Amino acid sequence: MQIFIYDTEKEIGQAAGKIFVDHVKANPNAAMGFATGMTPVPTYDYMAGEYEKGNVSFAGMKTFNLDEYCDLPREHKNSFYTFMMDNLFSRIDVKPENINFLDGNAPDQSAESERYAQAIIDAGGIDVQFLGIGRNGHIAFNEPAGGFTGEAFKVKLTDSTIEANSIYFDDIAMPRYAMTMGIGSIMRAKKIVFVATGASKAEAVKAMVQGEVTPECPASILQTHDDVTVFLDRAASQGLGVRN
Ligand code: PGA
Repeated sequence: MQIFIYDTEKEIGQAAGKIFVDHVKANPNAAMGFATGMTPVPTYDYMAGEYEKGNVSFAGMKTFNLDEYCDLPREHKNSFYTFMMDNLFSRIDVKPENINFLDGNAPDQSAESERYAQAIIDAGGIDVQFLGIGRNGHIAFNEPAGGFTGEAFKVKLTDSTIEANSIYFDDIAMPRYAMTMGIGSIMRAKKIVFVATGASKAEAVKAMVQGEVTPECPASILQTHDDVTVFLDRAASQGLGVRN
């Protein structure tokens, strides 16, 4: 893991966003893995800014998102599909047919998991995968568990995740289930761009970087991936014992 510590979320967004932009400039048909939540927003702002300046086109890029809620219409304002449309996709020239999501409402979850895995294979694998981390060490919706997960699956969200994300749900109760890419699928990404900001992530970051590799901290598996770039702000890095 290469770890970079920055003062501001904007600087992190520029550094992380530049990795995606440079990769798409060099490989216009690249497959990118995206995440939702507050963490990636500055990265998406940077990417949209580079598109607006005419510095890059995303017309050939394929996208795969990590996860999606179950029991929520795709167009609901709190779906991850809507989040990505608002925060990135509607601001750049990505083609709608190149945008891929797990279907949280698929009647047959194992068929849906197979469909998504095949779509990723057909795209040549994920070139660069954005990852954030939950306060409990989750990546995507892979919650702390007794074993590392494999392909995409339906997950019951933990209380910690429900507490963290329910602030976004003001009209309906937050869904209790989601479809998520599994750890096995995430680990096949060729390059991983990991971002964590804020003191609430410090403990999870410490466990991820310095702790034992254990499914109790799903992000700790990233220690075994050979191309992970970690961007932290000072608050998120405070448990690592580095001087900053
Ligand atoms: P956040 O979520 O970016 O909103 O903190 C990250 C996550 O739960 O993976």
